[in-house]
Amino acid sequence: MITPLRSVIDWLDDRAGVRDLVNEALYENVPGGARWRYVWGSTLVMAFVTQAITGIFLWMVYSPSTQTAWESVFFVEHSLTGGWLLRGLHHYMAQLMIVLLALHFIQIIWDGAYRAPRELNFLTGMILMLVVLGLSFTGYLLPWDQKGYWATNVGTELASQAPLAGAALKKLAVGGSDYGHQTLTRFFALHAGVLPALLVGFLGLHVLLMRRHGLHAKDPERGPDCTFWPDQVLKDSVAALGVLAVVLALTVWKGAELGSPADPANPYNAARPEWYFLFLFQFLKWFPGELEIWGAFIIPGVVVTVMFLMPWIGRSRAGHIFNVMLLILLFGGSAYLTAQALYDDNFSAMNERTEENQARYDASQAFLNAKQEAERDAERVVELALSPTRIPPTGALTLVYGDPFLQGPKLYKQHCAGCHNYVDPADPDPNLAHLVNPAPTAPNLYGLGTREWIGGWLDPERIASKHYFGYQGSPFTSDGRNSEMFDFVHESLGEEVDDEQRQTIKEAFQKVAAALSAEAGLSSQHAQDLADADLIAEGRKLIEGGLADVLDSGASCTDCHTFGEMQDIGSPVLDGYMSRQWLLDFLSYPADERFYGEMNDRMPAFAPHDDPRMNQLEQKSLELIVDWLRGDWYRPEHPAAASDSE
Ligand code: HEC
Ligand code: HEC
Repeated sequence: MITPLRSVIDWLDDRAGVRDLVNEALYENVPGGARWRYVWGSTLVMAFVTQAITGIFLWMVYSPSTQTAWESVFFVEHSLTGGWLLRGLHHYMAQLMIVLLALHFIQIIWDGAYRAPRELNFLTGMILMLVVLGLSFTGYLLPWDQKGYWATNVGTELASQAPLAGAALKKLAVGGSDYGHQTLTRFFALHAGVLPALLVGFLGLHVLLMRRHGLHAKDPERGPDCTFWPDQVLKDSVAALGVLAVVLALTVWKGAELGSPADPANPYNAARPEWYFLFLFQFLKWFPGELEIWGAFIIPGVVVTVMFLMPWIGRSRAGHIFNVMLLILLFGGSAYLTAQALYDDNFSAMNERTEENQARYDASQAFLNAKQEAERDAERVVELALSPTRIPPTGALTLVYGDPFLQGPKLYKQHCAGCHNYVDPADPDPNLAHLVNPAPTAPNLYGLGTREWIGGWLDPERIASKHYFGYQGSPFTSDGRNSEMFDFVHESLGEEVDDEQRQTIKEAFQKVAAALSAEAGLSSQHAQDLADADLIAEGRKLIEGGLADVLDSGASCTDCHTFGEMQDIGSPVLDGYMSRQWLLDFLSYPADERFYGEMNDRMPAFAPHDDPRMNQLEQKSLELIVDWLRGDWYRPEHPAAASDSE
């Protein structure tokens, strides 16, 4: 060895006895030789060290408050260099740690390594296991996304069911009466402070005790003894590298998920605990209502107590066999319950829906829908957070609430879908299937204001379909009432019109549709409107009275509608038809004489109003619906799209 180094070591050895320490650590005897089955303890230590290191780096960025927690995790995922890797490692190592714990536990029981004099080893191990589970549980809440928020909510609700101390326990965990900001700060203190400190303490004790009694070998006669270094260290290192490789692969392949920001006003029904708690979740389903306390506390409490007592139960041969049987039962049962939970949620809806399975089928369908919607929401929030507006100081939830793309469909479903339909008749979008009304009692609002949609009002066949005036209870289908618009279109293109004239009228109507659609000023049609300026000018002339020359009846739009110079009341004003302002005014009060006037059928008024019977909506909500209907929401600029619109 190089002399300077040796003298440093000598110096250290004199003062701290490092040589003995190192010798003791490395040349520990392994009776019966190194074996693969001993690797789990060391890999767990490696996993913990990884968690501590990645955890400290995450800590440097994480900011625990309801307005910044999600935002800081978003920053880690999307802005911090290598942040996705950092978070991915922490996320997946946490999951692998549970697997390693299970393997370690199985090996210890199976080999009988928990028996005297190693009881304290075992007890500290059990405590370590509970601490790790606690770390997982508290960690799940920290990203403050919908999934973690609602799943943890279920967990803390359960705590309140605990016998005797329930209410106090819940208050302690939640940090007050309401689940929210205080819960987050508490969970963070537990996750980054209390639990890791406990873990370090008990881990030290655990390792110390293990060194004191040496490694327990099931069959020490199996081969010649060896020392920890290098034989067992080599095996441990290979196992640790294997675990790291799995974690890295999962991170690169899937990455750690981040849902949309937690929204206390919007329960997420597909929230589930992490997979290793799923068996408990499923187990609880067996204990509905009053019985819950059995599933949540009494039975698990008894099981954990028995587990703590295993070293004493296992003193006799029969006791050891009992322990092994219990182990098999517990792991087999958990695996079965986990599989069942996954199947119930994800696969029940793949069978035929029959009378017997309909409840499970519907539950599964609801789960899958909620999950799909949550995934879409999450994707969208990321899109918004990366947009030039960025996340406002009030937090990412503000982005969610201000986005027509996210809020429009929800508000629509709540306030409009009872009457209206929303579906592209030519090509239904499966993502919008939840907005389809199979029996509409009002016109279809999909693509409202576009040339295509307006063309439908001027086409005798389409205006008679359920997407326009063919819906149930429409003015033209119900007895004794009539739609002037419907009659006008049918007369203009009725049977008596000859083919040549029909062609001329259709072309005129196309120009009318283009001109009327330009009034809407839709951003999706902006380029087309600019390009078709001449066509639109012709269309305007036709609307303003020019049609009289084309139609035999000599009728024209402005006979009934107001447009430009021509004023007429009693039919909807066509100036600015389907523009943002037109729609806002219309939705506020459709029975205004600018719109349907006295003829207003059932279209409710949504303006905030003193009369509580009015269908009130806040101005902001109205704007969100209108912007969504008009397709006005932020879209990320894709380089290709940008050059298209030039
Ligand atoms: C109680 C049933 C009902 C509800 C609820 C309702 N509407 Fe209507 N709405 C109608 C009817 C009926 C018409 C057609 C009246 C007519 O053209 O004579 C109409 C017309 C419209 C029109 C004019 C364009 C067209 O297609 O005729 C728009 C736009 C509209 N509704 C939007 C909405 C929005 C947005 C909501 C929700 C905020 C909503 N409506 C809620 C019944 C309803
Ligand atoms: C005979 C009178 C009359 C004529 C002519 C007429 N309309 Fe209408 N139009 C109406 C009335 C009335 C309504 C309201 C719905 C109803 O009750 O029929 C209406 C509804 C509409 C609507 C749907 C409004 C909504 O949002 O619910 C559009 C679009 C429309 N007309 C466009 C036109 C155009 C374009 C022309 C000319 C090509 C025209 N109308 C000619 C009377 C007329």
